[in-house]
Amino acid sequence: MSDTPNLFQPIKVGNITLQNRLVMAPLTRFRSPGHVSNALNVDYYAQRASSPGTLLISEAAFVSPAAGGYEHVPGLYTQDQIDAWKVITNAVHAKGSFLFIQLWGLGRSADPTYIKKTGYDYIAPSPIATYSTTVEYVRETSRIMGYNKRHPDSPKRLPRPTKQEPPRELTEPEILQFIADYAQAAKNAIAAGADGVEIHGTNFYLPEQFLFEGSNQRTDKWGGSIENRARFMLAIVDAVVAAVGAERTALRLSPWVNFLGKDGRTPVAQWGYLISELERRGRAGQRLAYLHLIEPRGAAGAHPLAKYNATETNDLFARLWSGVLVRAGGYTRQNALKETSEDPRLLIGLGRYFIANPDIVERWKRDLPLNEYDRSTFYTEGPEGYVDYPFYNEGTAKL
Ligand SMILES: Cc1cc2nc3c(=O)[nH]c(=O)nc-3n(C[C@H](O)[C@H](O)[C@H](O)COP(=O)(O)O)c2cc1C
Repeated sequence: MSDTPNLFQPIKVGNITLQNRLVMAPLTRFRSPGHVSNALNVDYYAQRASSPGTLLISEAAFVSPAAGGYEHVPGLYTQDQIDAWKVITNAVHAKGSFLFIQLWGLGRSADPTYIKKTGYDYIAPSPIATYSTTVEYVRETSRIMGYNKRHPDSPKRLPRPTKQEPPRELTEPEILQFIADYAQAAKNAIAAGADGVEIHGTNFYLPEQFLFEGSNQRTDKWGGSIENRARFMLAIVDAVVAAVGAERTALRLSPWVNFLGKDGRTPVAQWGYLISELERRGRAGQRLAYLHLIEPRGAAGAHPLAKYNATETNDLFARLWSGVLVRAGGYTRQNALKETSEDPRLLIGLGRYFIANPDIVERWKRDLPLNEYDRSTFYTEGPEGYVDYPFYNEGTAKL
C-alpha cells in the first residue's frame, strides 16, 4: 500500500482524472466589469491551477442577462464572454489542471435597481420581498469585517441590509426559458473549453428559491409539495445533462446554510428527496460528475448574513448519494486528511484558503505554513488581494 494519503491520490471525476482531492470552491470576486472575464482573471485562475491535476470550480457566471442582477460578475451567454472564458480554460489546462464553470441565476437575490437598468424584471418564484444584497453592500460589509478583524478593540458597525420591493412572480414560459438558459450556458461553457459545469443550487439564489416554502408559494406544478418545489432544480439538472452529458454536470447544494433570510425550512425531507432523485438518475446511467455539499459549519465564512450552526450534519445526505462527493466549508488540513482517508469517493472544497494561497495544494502536501486571507479585499477591484498573494518561497524561512 502507498504511504501517500488519499488526499493526494488520483481520483476519476466524470471524464477527468485528478491528481489530488482538493478542489477550489466557487468564489465570486466581482472583478469582471461589463460581465466579461479579463486578463487579471486569467492570472488568478492560472496561479491557482499551479498543482497539475487540480480541479478548480470557477466563480459563479450568469446563464443569461435575465438571470443576472449584479455588475462585475462574468456571464456565459455572449460570444465575447465565451471567448474570454476560453483564455481562462486554456491557461488552466496549460498547467495540467481542470475547470468546471459554476452556473448562476439570482432571482430575488438580485439588485432590483441593477436588473431593471439592464432591461429585465426583478423576478422570483413568488412575489415575496427579501433582504437582497447589492455589490456595494457586499463590498462594504466585507471591507468592514476585514477592518474589524485587524482592529478588534474599535470595531466598525456593519451596514444593515435593506428589505427590497417584492419581486414579480415568474410565469411558466419564463420558468421554461430559464431552464433552457442553463442548458445553453452549459453548452457555451463546453464550447469555451471547460471540463464541465456546476449548477449553483445553494445560498438562496434562483434554483434554491423554488425549494423553500418561504420563497415559493406557487400553486402550479412548480410549488406546493416537496416534489413540486424540487421540480425546477431537477429540470435544470436534466436539461444540462441532455446538453453536455452527466459526466460533465455537477450540482452544488447547501441544505443547512441560512442565508439571505431563508425560511419555512424542511431540510431533511426536501434535500433528501432531491438527492434521492439524483441517485436514482445515477443508477439509471446518468451519474453526475459529482455532488457538492456545503457543510453547516462553512456558512459563517461565506456571507455576513449567514448563521453559523455546527450541530447540523450532511452525513444523512452523503449516505443517499453513491457518486463522487465534494464537501466544503471550514476544512482544515487535518480534517481534510482524516475525512478523505475514511471516504474514498470524497473531495474537499476550499474557499478562503485558495484565495490566500495560490499553491495551497503544494503547501498542504508538504505541510508548509499558509498566507492569511484578508477579507477586506475579497470583493474589491484590481489586483490587490487577488493575484498578489505570494507562492511559498523556498528561500524565505517564514512567510
Ligand atoms: C469571497 C467568497 C465568494 C464566494 N462565492 C461563491 C460563489 O460564487 N458560489 C458558491 O457556491 N459559493 C461561494 N462562496 C462560498 C465558498 O464556495 C465556500 O463554500 C465557503 O467559502 C466556505 O469554504 P471555506 O471555509 O473553505 O472558505 C464564496 C465564499 C467567499 C468567501
